Amino acid sequence: SESGYLSIVVLGASGDLAKKKTFPALFHLFLQGFLKPGEVRIFGYARSNLSDDGLRERIRGYLKGASDEHLSQFLQLIKYVSGSYDSGEGFGLLNNAISKYETSKNNESGSYRRLFYLALPPSVYPSVCKMIKSYCMNPSSHTGWTRVIVEKPFGKDLDSAEELSAELGQLFTEEQLYRIDHYLGKELVQNLLVLRFANRLFLPLWNRDNIANVQIVFKEDFGTDGRGGYFDQYGIIRDIIQNHLLQVFCLVAMEKPVSLKPEHIRDEKVKVLQSVEPIKHEEVVIGQYDGYKDDPTVPNDSNTPTYASLVLRVHNERWEGVPFILKAGKALNSRKAEIRVQFKDAPGDIFRCKKQGRNEFVIRLQPSEAMYMKLTVKKPGLEMATEQSELDLSYGMRYQDVKIPEAYERLILDTIRGDQQHFVRRDELRAAWEIFTPLLHDIDAGKLKSVSYEPGTRGPQQADELSKRMGYLQTHGYIWVPPT
Ligand code: BG6
Repeated sequence: SESGYLSIVVLGASGDLAKKKTFPALFHLFLQGFLKPGEVRIFGYARSNLSDDGLRERIRGYLKGASDEHLSQFLQLIKYVSGSYDSGEGFGLLNNAISKYETSKNNESGSYRRLFYLALPPSVYPSVCKMIKSYCMNPSSHTGWTRVIVEKPFGKDLDSAEELSAELGQLFTEEQLYRIDHYLGKELVQNLLVLRFANRLFLPLWNRDNIANVQIVFKEDFGTDGRGGYFDQYGIIRDIIQNHLLQVFCLVAMEKPVSLKPEHIRDEKVKVLQSVEPIKHEEVVIGQYDGYKDDPTVPNDSNTPTYASLVLRVHNERWEGVPFILKAGKALNSRKAEIRVQFKDAPGDIFRCKKQGRNEFVIRLQPSEAMYMKLTVKKPGLEMATEQSELDLSYGMRYQDVKIPEAYERLILDTIRGDQQHFVRRDELRAAWEIFTPLLHDIDAGKLKSVSYEPGTRGPQQADELSKRMGYLQTHGYIWVPPT
């Protein structure tokens, strides 16, 4: 499915996501030779009245890391069509533009590919998808395909998500729909299955007998920055936890898939999601940073969490009794995303080094990708003393010459190749909403209150207390010298 002419349509071309993520990702694919000038055309579509050059000027500043010549070659591939998101007129024009390009190619094999990227607010998905279906599908006289990438949020709770799924399901087959979760495009997220299932070391350890708790953490050191109006309708659980962190959770907790086929992998994800027990209120802390409500688009009485820490428990043979703590927050003291797998204490400890900390396997997704294992070792020297140290695989050191691809770059390429492994299947989405919907409804109804926290801190102190209650042991790495 990689040959033939390709039309990529970015809907919402003048918006933030398109400028910051979609076009730069396409640019990098172009630079690496995946989008060839003779075979691809990119169409931007939005409501603003712009010329082709107008759009090119808007996105130029976001395209970095190449010569002016490459940049202008890429920009020449871009055309702009303006129209509204619910008018046949606009989409008719868009289709004409695509067809005109395709005809000009006089393609003998007749293979044409149309990729639609919805960089749009979810409220317009149904109408835009109807328009694509009515006006812009690859004609049946052509071989090739039509594929549609949709961005989260997919709904706000189970019912609205199911409704959206049903609407889109009437228009497109599951094979045509790519529900993107960009965390699945991150290098160390993609590494999780390899780590877990290709290393004998981890296979026998990855269970309740050896693992005390798992934390999956997302931190940002900035607030909602002018996105308050959007954010307030969703909150951190819908923005980050229900999708990004839950996808990571699946890869950490799922059973081994039958093979690497996308359906096999996604079958296992669905199973582990279905094994998650209802979330208990006493295992949830939600917070809102001071100053969040200064945004004029945020209501004064908003209870919307900008921070949440909550515990997932998996009811199966592998994980019973092991808390998975999912934490996410905005306006905190740093920007970081990581997985921390904390092992149980070594039994029969003769070194009395327990206080120093436990074995902990940390996978840092960003920034500076790394994996490290905290170990207790003998402190080098004459004394028989122990200390905590690390086995450290920092990508910046080990893979100095490798440029790690951007998540969006990889996922758009997957879509062109027709690989759905790193996209969210409909039943997976449903299972994800089943986990969070009761809690979200309770928060929306004010049954749980957001506690306030200072911007630039670790977040609410109650969250640290929750982790401690879940048995998470903060490691100190101090040196312990046995009494003589
Ligand atoms: C988006 C959220 O999905 O992910 C944003 O809507 C968040 O609120 C972003 O800032 C974080 O992505 P990354 O790749 O920078 O961790």
